[in-house]
Amino acid sequence: MKKSESVKHRDVFTSGFGVLAATLGSAVGLGNIWKFPALAGLNGGAAFLIIYLVSTLMTGLPVMIAELMLGRRSRSDALTTFRVLHPQRETWGLIGAVGVLSAFLILAFYTEVAGWVFAYVFKSATGAVLSSDPKVTSAAFQSLIADPFQSVFWQCLVILFVGFIIVLGVSKGIEKTTKRLMPVLFLILLMIGIRSLTLSGATQGLSFLFTPDFSKVTGSVVLTAMGLAFFKLSVGMGTMITYGSYFTHDQNVPMTALRVMLADLTVSILAGIAIFPAVFTYGFKPEAGPALLFITIPAVFSQMPFGNVFVVLFFVLGAIASTGAMLSIMEVPVAYLHHRLGWSRLKSTAVTATLLALIGSTAALSNSTLAGFKILGMTMFDLYDFLTSNLLMPLGGLFLCLFAGWVWGEKQVRSALTNDGTLANRRVVSFFLFQVKYVAPAIITIILLRGLKLI
Ligand code: PFF
Repeated sequence: MKKSESVKHRDVFTSGFGVLAATLGSAVGLGNIWKFPALAGLNGGAAFLIIYLVSTLMTGLPVMIAELMLGRRSRSDALTTFRVLHPQRETWGLIGAVGVLSAFLILAFYTEVAGWVFAYVFKSATGAVLSSDPKVTSAAFQSLIADPFQSVFWQCLVILFVGFIIVLGVSKGIEKTTKRLMPVLFLILLMIGIRSLTLSGATQGLSFLFTPDFSKVTGSVVLTAMGLAFFKLSVGMGTMITYGSYFTHDQNVPMTALRVMLADLTVSILAGIAIFPAVFTYGFKPEAGPALLFITIPAVFSQMPFGNVFVVLFFVLGAIASTGAMLSIMEVPVAYLHHRLGWSRLKSTAVTATLLALIGSTAALSNSTLAGFKILGMTMFDLYDFLTSNLLMPLGGLFLCLFAGWVWGEKQVRSALTNDGTLANRRVVSFFLFQVKYVAPAIITIILLRGLKLI
């Protein structure tokens, strides 16, 4: 009685497709375009893919299942979840608090890159940033990022856009939007992929992505793969706790998580197939990061037949991908303010957006006004990226595993993941328990310590 009541008053995802679209929408993002394919190509191709897959199965996926499971049980935001599930010890709530901090730090740089992507949708449509000469595209990009006004303007526009969808609510805002956007994303990806595969450099591009080279796999590559697994699946910071709290009771959590992981990997590989054949065809060097997206891509795509259309499509793809991801990150603090403090969604979103615009501007200005301001040798933009992917998310993931496996208890986990005994997935649950109790914590700890150069 109590459960169904709380669900009734809570805005939740209304259908299985909605759950999948929103969750996949969170996982799929700029990471699939700007991080994954180039990292794979530069760090050993298929060798990196294998390491990424193992990292995901051993760490990212169990953390994702744990988060969704805890959120669905507590029906609460990322902070309150720990209080609801384990009222004896409030310190576990720190996981959620660190999650909210990570949400702001990720959004600070993510909304900036998304701002550039949105800007490029318009600029490529008018032809302003198109040229087959990378010197010209590079100058165009530099003039955008070195201009403090433009940087902050596009970032704020993106924050307003995402905030607007968030205010509409969980089912009418997030679910409805991602349900529409996800199919379009796949369609665009297929179109660009097919175009790219029919170019002369297709074989070279594919061999860059897929030829295994184990000699490139070093300790830091493994660390990168694990950080990427967390970033890609949006785990370790409460996003999936928050989304799990909107899942219906009949959702098969482990199955949904596995599907999302596989679909997300497919998108990353398709993105690589869309990008690298074209890059090699026109004699460019594969790179990671913003340079690939904003300098190489416009130069490469504008050389192929109907290139102008494909550049615009490419940036629309980026805009769609980043929207689903940003919605899920922004929902973390909004859900907390809305549920815990009882603020309206409008007020919660307005406060979150304002705070975000303030923190985000330090990332937005790190190529102009704040370019000389560095901590640990990094600009604010790089620092936020580094801190979240390599430290906060894995740390959050570690404590989530410990909480799910050791504190909350095996009985609770079994009943939560079998939907109170109605699902026949006992083996899956046993495997999950083994992972969160032993495997994931051990691997995350070793890699974190290595990353911090402590071992
Ligand atoms: N998964 C997103 C991407 O690959 O771009 C990024 C992301 C979304 C990270 C949501 C964290 C998060 F909570």
